[in-house]
Amino acid sequence: MKCFWLLLLHGLLFFDTVSSKTHRHVFVVEDAPYTRLCKTKSILAVNGQFPGPTLYARRGDTMKVKVHNRAKDNITIHWHGVKQPRNPWSDGPEYITQCPIQPGDSFTYAVVLSTEEGTVWWHAHNDFARATVHGTIVVYPPRGSRYPFPRPFKEFVIVLGEWWVEDVNVVLKRAVESGGDFNKSDAYTINGQPGDFFPCSSNETFRLAVERGKTYLLRVVNAAMSAGLFLSVAHHRLTVVGSDGAYTKPYTSDYALVFPGETMDMLLTADQNPNPTGGLYYMAARAFDFLNTSNIDNITATAVVAYLPGSGGGGRPLLPPLPYYNDSNAATRFSFSLRGLWDKERRPVGLPNMFDERIVMTVSINELPCRHSSCAGPNGTRLAASLNNISFANPSINILEAYCRCVRGDYGVNFPTMPPYYFNFTADDQPQNLLWTRRATEVKAVEYGRKLEVVFQGTSLVQGESHPMHLHGYSFYVVGWGFGNFDKWRDPLGYNLKDPPFKNTVGVPRNGWVAIRFTANNPGVWYLHCHLERHLIWGMDTVLIVKDGPSPWVQFVSY
Ligand code: C2O
Ligand code: CU
Repeated sequence: MKCFWLLLLHGLLFFDTVSSKTHRHVFVVEDAPYTRLCKTKSILAVNGQFPGPTLYARRGDTMKVKVHNRAKDNITIHWHGVKQPRNPWSDGPEYITQCPIQPGDSFTYAVVLSTEEGTVWWHAHNDFARATVHGTIVVYPPRGSRYPFPRPFKEFVIVLGEWWVEDVNVVLKRAVESGGDFNKSDAYTINGQPGDFFPCSSNETFRLAVERGKTYLLRVVNAAMSAGLFLSVAHHRLTVVGSDGAYTKPYTSDYALVFPGETMDMLLTADQNPNPTGGLYYMAARAFDFLNTSNIDNITATAVVAYLPGSGGGGRPLLPPLPYYNDSNAATRFSFSLRGLWDKERRPVGLPNMFDERIVMTVSINELPCRHSSCAGPNGTRLAASLNNISFANPSINILEAYCRCVRGDYGVNFPTMPPYYFNFTADDQPQNLLWTRRATEVKAVEYGRKLEVVFQGTSLVQGESHPMHLHGYSFYVVGWGFGNFDKWRDPLGYNLKDPPFKNTVGVPRNGWVAIRFTANNPGVWYLHCHLERHLIWGMDTVLIVKDGPSPWVQFVSY
């Protein structure tokens, strides 16, 4: 029997079992009519809400979420950033750990929190459903313990999202059938609202009512599908204190950059004099690294920070400056300034000083040949994406089940640990023959306890872009990054092994690389992919199978 997921020892590592609690929730997934940008359409929503319900728990708690599918389409839910120790069964990605929940069926997820503290989130993990099926998970410190920063007066959940006027299934279908790019969305949103610069929107712009002199905790989730977002509040600075369910050293900046899949906890102090704008300030979000349209204002989503009591000035809120959409330096300056909050009490658990294995992985956009060159990609090709030049094809039975039952799944275990060819990955022009990829279902299997380094190497093939790479089942330490090609002799000398941030999603800079480290101490079948939905659909994904440890099987989670 292969599925000995686990180790008692490992359990002790993850849990202080003292006071953890089990919460029960019911999610009904159903079609609901929503109106944005002057048009009404039917969207998939959980309990009728968009964004979906926020779940609250404390570190170490478990949530049992019963999901009823009352929609016409399949659904699965993933608990993004929840490590789910030894519990891949509830992780959610379709064809990786489960078959989707069919219309009329239900499925109960056990969402097992362990070391997470801060903000994580949940979202659908099949097709394009996560465009509207997503929400926040707030994880408070355990009872009797405090934030490592001054207690905020109040907190706000800020979910960044994206809206297509069209049915998202149509957007998906058109792209898949034509082989071309996805239609761009019509707006980014803050808590479901595009804000004042969009038609039929300003009455519902999200407002954060604040009192002068008070400090607020913003729990920001980027649930958008297509782009990282710069975020800023006019005349205010943001102090990041956590990201991806782990604390960071406080880092103060005029703007933040949040990639799809990332969360950022930040403090905002209402320290401005309410005049002369009537105490109104825009919070603004705009896409990074994604060419959209020439009119920059039209693509800026806004919310309003409103000082209470209002001074009655009635002026227009001030708009903050945001870095330009292609400002890679502003992007990396922010992202790679984050440091983990490690000290004597909170140690970077499982951070390998030396690794057992290094996996170098190119992260690329590619092309696939298309019959009669009739696809809508460049020169009639089909757009694709790959890791180490394998464009992942979904298996027909889910990998977790095939692996556990020792059924021959239709997947291979030969995911390469280095790129098939070394070339100048980030050169300005790339020859056509390097653009091609191949479709296959290859996973990477590792022994329990292996210390891994993974280097994500971006490439300029077809189009260089930044890629928010996300791993299920783990958080990892971001130990290094750079522009250009990774140099295995020189670059590791500059690694930060002292206080690297502990993340589950990291933006690989356009035409650059990122190095992460972690110990493979959570057995299971874990998805690894770019969190830009179009790239995932094009094949920028693979699976990490972490084998069982030596100890006997423990049925840890009851459903
Ligand atoms: Cu938030 Cu596999 O994703
Ligand atoms: Cu990507």
